[in-house]
Amino acid sequence: MHPFHIRLDRRRLLGSLLLTTGGYLTNDLYAEALVLTPRSTEGPYYPDHLPLDQDNDLTLITGGQAPAGGVVTEFGGRLLMADGSPVGDRTIELWQADVNGCYLHSKGVQKGKQRDPAFQGFGKIVTNAKGEYRFRTIRPGLYTGRTIHWHIAVNDGAKRLLTTQLYIAGVEQNDKDGILQRTGTPEQRLSVIREFKPKSADSEELLGTWDIVLGETPQEPAEDRAAPRRP
Ligand SMILES: [Fe+2]
Repeated sequence: MHPFHIRLDRRRLLGSLLLTTGGYLTNDLYAEALVLTPRSTEGPYYPDHLPLDQDNDLTLITGGQAPAGGVVTEFGGRLLMADGSPVGDRTIELWQADVNGCYLHSKGVQKGKQRDPAFQGFGKIVTNAKGEYRFRTIRPGLYTGRTIHWHIAVNDGAKRLLTTQLYIAGVEQNDKDGILQRTGTPEQRLSVIREFKPKSADSEELLGTWDIVLGETPQEPAEDRAAPRRP
């Protein structure tokens, strides 16, 4: 597929920053306002077989006839350092459950369910010079024992810099999700629970923004990735 790009809604982003800084938006305050994106577990379902089509539009597979099932959802933002500087040329990976709660993994199919063959299951994009990235995908399906979530990894070449998970505000299961509730500090946890709104009044598609903020050193010790995992 052709890479999927749309311009980010700068005005809306600035509006939300003004709200969080009380209107006193200076470079210094902006830098102080950035919360490091918290790490989270990789889970057991990072694809054990990567799809041929790995672009950032997971709703369409190259050569496929039908779009994926589920509510189309777009999100994007910037990859930043804590001081607000953009980080280009890093690969952001996304993997998630399809509309039936199934992963692109040989053990990732729920009992009694079938994987949606039209859903790509995994995608990636390289951040541009402004640190921007964007995905077009679906609202993840629910599966037993978790709230709905996206898995995200940030890589510098073969080196994993960050593994985390992204959530949708207002989902009933969020409050009881053990992995979410153990994620980061309360402030960091809020930074990975994002509002998703309809794209327009007459659209069922959802749209959200999310900036990913990296610390000075890679936040992903290799030994943690081998730890026991839940989906
Ligand atoms: Fe998961």
